[in-house]
Amino acid sequence: MSRSPVCINDFEKLAEGILPKAVYDYYSSGADEQQTLKDNVAAFSRWQLCPRVLRDVSNMDLSVTILGQRVSMPVCVSATAMQRMAHPEGEVATVRACRSQGTGMMLSTWATSSIEEVAEAAPEATRWLQLYIYKDRKVTASLVRRAEAAGYRGIFLTVDTPYLGKRLADVRNKFKLPPPLRMANFENLDLSFSKKDYGEDSGLAVYTSSAIDPTIKWQDIDWLRQLTKLPIVLKGILRADDAREAVKHGIAGILVSNHGARQLDCVSATIDALPEIIEAVEGRVEVYLDGGVRKGTDVLKALALGAKAVFLGRPALWGLAYQGEEGVHKVLQILKEEFRLALALAGCRNVNEIDGSLVKKGTWARSRI
Ligand code: LAC
Repeated sequence: MSRSPVCINDFEKLAEGILPKAVYDYYSSGADEQQTLKDNVAAFSRWQLCPRVLRDVSNMDLSVTILGQRVSMPVCVSATAMQRMAHPEGEVATVRACRSQGTGMMLSTWATSSIEEVAEAAPEATRWLQLYIYKDRKVTASLVRRAEAAGYRGIFLTVDTPYLGKRLADVRNKFKLPPPLRMANFENLDLSFSKKDYGEDSGLAVYTSSAIDPTIKWQDIDWLRQLTKLPIVLKGILRADDAREAVKHGIAGILVSNHGARQLDCVSATIDALPEIIEAVEGRVEVYLDGGVRKGTDVLKALALGAKAVFLGRPALWGLAYQGEEGVHKVLQILKEEFRLALALAGCRNVNEIDGSLVKKGTWARSRI
């Protein structure tokens, strides 16, 4: 495609033409038959918008607060691992694009740039650290301490990954990090995912089994809470009872996520899981969503159903592969403009004017239930 990208899906086609196959496969894959991967995107179209008219939408304010930090729009960048496979500047480019767009970045623990490097690249950007609980709690605690010291504003703890989901392409490709790349937050060879050989499986699945603690349970949330004053968001909640339990454990927010459809296949699209989580938490904590967000209308639907903000995973990677920092900047710019337009065409001047009456389940979808 020679023309400039005008929507998020254009970036994916461009990135596919640029990235080595095993890298594109790793970023793009979902688990197993990828039923949820397709549904995360498709489910948005089963919700319809019900716009208001005649509301003077000449002055728009898209900003929102997340964990007390104001960002320019309710669209932030989600954690995706090992971004230097997409572009030599990786996470450093992503955080700079987030800063110039005035929005926030969630850095993966499995980044190919360190917590400190990313902080130095954009000290004033709103940054959060995505975290896994390692078998070695000292490793986990040290990541938290480093995030605190480097000015990260919160911890997004991934709770849906006691083991890595089965991504068929990664198994076939025996996926591992192309040398000399390594997970930059770790010194030793085992934790930095830079061994030469991981056998016949997806290397990352082997790494995950060796490093990440599959025994974690609700008490470990209490352990993490007493370890840090940073707000903790649980990433990967899909059920009302888990959401209520999360609130009981004093967390600050919930990210409704199915890990980009990369963990358990056949789960709900995140936009379909969102309403029951919103109902369960009764406004006591902030709720966000990721998974399948590709358009401004998707953002509007998620907010109308109660999310405070949405996070983008793959679209940022496609922008990064296409043009580094500039590419991520363009992805965020397009989403921002699409969201501005959707908001105005729905008769809202700011996010506070969005309410549940703006969205309904499509009639054809209801007739099938
Ligand atoms: C993945 C992990 C790194 O989905 O989050 O591959």
